[in-house]
Amino acid sequence: MNSPSIRDDFEVPDNHVFVLFGATGDLARRKILPGLFHLACLRLMPQRYRIIGSSRAASALSDEEFRDYACQAIVEFGNDEPSGEVWDEFVSSLSFTVSDGERPETFARAVHDAQTSIGGDVRRLFHLAVPPGAARELLHLIEESGLNVDSRIICEKPFGVDLGSARELNSFIRARFEETQVFRIDHFLGKESIENILALRFANRLFEPLWNRDHVRFVQIDVPEALSIEGRGSFYEETGAFRDMVVSHLFQVLGFLAMEQPTSFDAGPLRDEVHKVFQTLRPIDPANAVRGQYEGYLDEEGVSPTSNTETFIALRAEVENTRWKGVPFYLRTGKALAQRRQVITIGFDEPVMRLFSSGKKTPQWRGNKLVVDFADPGSIHAHFLVKEPGPRMNLEPAQMHFYYRDSYEETGNLEAYEHLILEAMLGNRALFTRSDGIERLWQVATPLLETPPPVETYAKGSWGPESMHTLVAPDRWCLP
Ligand code: BG6
Repeated sequence: MNSPSIRDDFEVPDNHVFVLFGATGDLARRKILPGLFHLACLRLMPQRYRIIGSSRAASALSDEEFRDYACQAIVEFGNDEPSGEVWDEFVSSLSFTVSDGERPETFARAVHDAQTSIGGDVRRLFHLAVPPGAARELLHLIEESGLNVDSRIICEKPFGVDLGSARELNSFIRARFEETQVFRIDHFLGKESIENILALRFANRLFEPLWNRDHVRFVQIDVPEALSIEGRGSFYEETGAFRDMVVSHLFQVLGFLAMEQPTSFDAGPLRDEVHKVFQTLRPIDPANAVRGQYEGYLDEEGVSPTSNTETFIALRAEVENTRWKGVPFYLRTGKALAQRRQVITIGFDEPVMRLFSSGKKTPQWRGNKLVVDFADPGSIHAHFLVKEPGPRMNLEPAQMHFYYRDSYEETGNLEAYEHLILEAMLGNRALFTRSDGIERLWQVATPLLETPPPVETYAKGSWGPESMHTLVAPDRWCLP
């Protein structure tokens, strides 16, 4: 039985028709349908809502089939049991319609019928959980159906594959929608621990005074993944680790780590500060990047036997402003690596004087580290040195820990997608990316995209090619 926790203290969105394009796709099944139901269980869905699943004719479902499909998705990927009062309400809100560009009137009717069944003022939110190629057709369909006025749209990454295509996509969207209607989703920004970076930095006096080039020696954003490409060969061939993870996710995390304090956490001031970081991010020098490819990648289905696509990328980024000049930001991510981790490490400089002689356990590098593990539910760890008990003045490494899991009940947690869908329904764009920011990131990426270093092979289950160590020397990767 689901046990809805009533969250009276939270703002609930206006009544909504939520249209889920790509309803029979992987993202809808794994994240969006279970996520919407979780919101319903937490009483965070609007008081009255309808969810319309939509796909091309080839994978169309009847209303009944879509309800069964949603139920299975929730059983398989959700944390809430599809039964009880909330489920009855949720399942009765589901219907299905084909997204057929030739018949915009049929599509419009389905949306209008759903609105009428709710009655009164109803908002429309279209979630385009589809690849970029398909997104254009659907944006066109929304326009042709006359539904683009006053609606909101959630667009999935990737937003283009380079500067030119991102500009083109943005202008295509701008021709049909006001910028205030557009929610470009980057699900890393919906992770609890990423938002918590703002609290850590700006709600505490302990860290922020040290958060700059005078005290920080390096920053690492390390997101190794243990999974391989999992049958996504043809998608991955066109993307690779740099586009898929760095341009989309890791740069956004860097934006939150490096920004100045915004005047508020509203969309305008918050995104302005992130954008200023992107403007001061230096274009990535290919000499500061290592590209890798796991052994066996070339045998994956959908992969060219001569593919030069990287499944691993490590790079050094530089933010050239007063706060950060000279501090390297080391970014690393890849598939088929030893562990799945999502870790930020801020490495602080050693004290000016080495007053203590080394003991057996004294690390070679004696700087403190602040580690933010942002794999939900997340944790924060401070690494520092203490005196070993006993007659000698020897140093030992020590740690202080904070675990979300130990400190809060998990029942009320929102998974990244749930959080962001809720924010979109509330009309809050603070945690969504901006078109100018995306274009700037592609500009920063251009030298590496134009002149990529050759891919180096690495063994599955390793931490990547050996040369990633040279990239950060004399610093070291903090994982493993
Ligand atoms: C996606 C990428 O955007 O993010 C995947 O396309 C990657 O390749 C995934 O595995 C990681 O997300 P998560 O939810 O595991 O943090």
